[in-house]
Amino acid sequence: MSVIQIVSMNETHLQTLAALEACCFADPWSEDALREELKNPLARFLVALCDGEVAGYLGCHHIVDEAFVANVAVFPAFRRQGVGRALVEAAKEQAAALYRLTLEVRASNAPAIALYRSLGFVEDGIRPHFYAHPTEDAVLYSYYPTRS
Ligand SMILES: CC(C)(COP(=O)(O)OP(=O)(O)OC[C@H]1O[C@@H](n2cnc3c(N)ncnc32)[C@H](O)[C@@H]1OP(=O)(O)O)[C@@H](O)C(=O)NCCC(=O)NCCS
Repeated sequence: MSVIQIVSMNETHLQTLAALEACCFADPWSEDALREELKNPLARFLVALCDGEVAGYLGCHHIVDEAFVANVAVFPAFRRQGVGRALVEAAKEQAAALYRLTLEVRASNAPAIALYRSLGFVEDGIRPHFYAHPTEDAVLYSYYPTRS
């Protein structure tokens, strides 16, 4: 069983995270886009290390009393080992004093929806045709720290 460590994203992670984005998403964030987040005071980007190796990451923005999860991804070789759960739990801890932690997910993304539901997120609405490549609705999920 690997030890999962959650650390803040830094320059040394960027190349691997851009590769992770490219392997997971139709419109991946580039290495430069990720680098911009290192300068963004609203950004809380977290990296999961399994025995020191980059296994996944979560990017979040804190704006006033809300936090928005922009991306969550785990390398296929590290899935179903608790990495996604560890990342979302860390984001929940960082948002503990806020009104809510919110995110959007493709309606067909059953693994991610199961993950969010298992961690107390509730469905808040639908954004029709929100995603491209392919076109698909987004489902909004929120976690309300003060209600849990
Ligand atoms: C969604 C994702 C981040 C989950 O990461 P993960 O590290 O595999 O998740 P975990 O191992 O922590 O799983 C936690 C829980 O999520 C749910 N889950 C995760 N993958 C699942 C799957 N393939 N099928 C059903 N449930 C799943 C389960 O409830 C699981 O708990 P369990 O293993 O005790 O049953 C990962 O599949 C991924 O990177 N997918 C591609 C990118 C993506 O879709 N990101 C989300 C965008 S909104």
